Amino acid sequence: MPELNLILVGPPGAGKGTQAERLTDDFALPYFATGNMLREAVTAGTDLGKKAKGFMDAGDLVPDDVIIGMILESLASDDARDGFLLDGFPRNVEQADALAAAMAEVGRELTGVLAIELSDEEVIRRLSGRRTCVENGHSYHLDFDPPNSPDVCDQDGSALIQRDDDNPATIKRRLEVYHAQTAPLLDYYEQRGLLQRFDGDHTQSEVHEKLRAAITTLRMQDEI
Ligand code: AP5
Repeated sequence: MPELNLILVGPPGAGKGTQAERLTDDFALPYFATGNMLREAVTAGTDLGKKAKGFMDAGDLVPDDVIIGMILESLASDDARDGFLLDGFPRNVEQADALAAAMAEVGRELTGVLAIELSDEEVIRRLSGRRTCVENGHSYHLDFDPPNSPDVCDQDGSALIQRDDDNPATIKRRLEVYHAQTAPLLDYYEQRGLLQRFDGDHTQSEVHEKLRAAITTLRMQDEI
């Protein structure tokens, strides 16, 4: 079976993590989410976590020299040998160039870049109501996808919290950073014939069906 090397991109709160959980099940894909990796480092109190925390709390990007090394090491590991789903990386053109160079060096190629699009207004609504489980990062929304109990994760019973960066000031900054630094990647990947756009303003199941169909088609095209 050909390898699927995929990127999920989109504004904060567009539903990348929510969809990734379903897609990694569908396609048995190893999942690498830089935001999750950084939050784990913050919780563990590592040097990386200490360096990253201030940037994350402010809603700014963690410096490229920290991020690029971290993710390229993961992609070079055995876990990513047969394909991967990336979420949160790349986040600017420098990171995209570094990924392209690293993949070219080992003779691999991206299969596709899936962009979930959502208005700023909806992003604010989604992030303001998000609750995340402390153990495994399972995500809920108080209105759109409520847990059975507001403080407990349905899936693993751990506590549900509001992420430190899901406050109004940081959400505003994350959106500014997205538009200035990450949105240009849509053109970048469109020019390379890799981009597919999806309207994120539908139910989780509707968005999932569209993404699943697109990835199934990409895999079939690669098999031909
Ligand atoms: P990161 O963790 O990557 O955050 P993000 O991109 O801001 O994305 P989110 O995780 O907030 O949103 P999501 O799209 O996954 O939405 P979700 O599925 O949870 O990055 C955090 C920080 O780390 C950055 O600010 C930066 O500092 C740093 N960082 C990370 N990567 C970096 C990099 N490469 N370079 C530099 N710095 C980096 O959904 C949101 C909510 O909506 C949930 O409540 C969910 O239940 C709900 N929801 C989902 N789908 C739907 C739907 N269809 N309808 C209704 N509600 C829905």
